[in-house]
Amino acid sequence: MSAATDGPAAGRLPWIVGVSGASGTPYARAVITALLKAGHPVDVIVSRAARLTILDETGIAFRDNHWAADLASWLDIGDLVPAGGLRYWTATDLAAGPASGSYPARGMVVVPASTAAVAGIALGLSKDLLQRAADVTLKERRPLVVVPRETPYTRATLTHLVELYDAGAVVLPASPAFYAGAGSVQQLVDFIAAKVLDVLGVEHSLITRWTGELGVARTADSNAARTTESRSPRLQSGPAGNPA
Ligand SMILES: Cc1cc2nc3c(=O)[nH]c(=O)nc-3n(C[C@H](O)[C@H](O)[C@H](O)COP(=O)(O)O)c2cc1C
Repeated sequence: MSAATDGPAAGRLPWIVGVSGASGTPYARAVITALLKAGHPVDVIVSRAARLTILDETGIAFRDNHWAADLASWLDIGDLVPAGGLRYWTATDLAAGPASGSYPARGMVVVPASTAAVAGIALGLSKDLLQRAADVTLKERRPLVVVPRETPYTRATLTHLVELYDAGAVVLPASPAFYAGAGSVQQLVDFIAAKVLDVLGVEHSLITRWTGELGVARTADSNAARTTESRSPRLQSGPAGNPA
């Protein structure tokens, strides 16, 4: 469904994004900002462990009572968010909206998903709001995308992932591909966000899609790179930008 149908008349129908304590907070940032950019409202749940990964990977100390400022600074969203576009729920608040199937929501993404979150959701533990919201998403037969980030996997995690698959979730590992001609870390991150949005049916222009011709993205990328002064290192952190 397009963002246009999500106007005030249709009522607020958010995607819930659960950020658990696996490495890979840039994936969460990319998914949340792409959904907002596409005009979709987003409800964010940050697990307690995810505060550590956000702190470790961004330097931002995430606080519940300063969530608006901390989210804005983490996501660097500026005026991207329309009124009511972004809502935050405390992970320990099991009475929060997303804890109930009667709370209107389109579906949920758990990104990144720790092995603990994978286990908790697969087993229906609902030990916090993130896990409960995922359980609600499954019981209501809404789309659930789980983006695990761990390597290697234990047998237990592999079993839990199969259980999630069998329950109807889409298991979408944080394993970016290189065929789209990524020239930066951000482009690899955007590849995963793009795959998530594809599953959700949300339009985006995060990546160059496969055209059926080998080497096209690489050639386009190296042509673009020749116009820049420095090509080294090949992979670098930096501002978002799609391959040509
Ligand atoms: C800096 C840091 C990085 C971590 N990275 C991972 C990871 O990549 N994958 C994972 O499954 N757990 C990782 N963990 C461990 C989880 O945070 C831990 O299992 C926690 O209990 C997950 O809780 P949650 O699912 O409620 O967020 C990491 C922990 C820290 C502090």
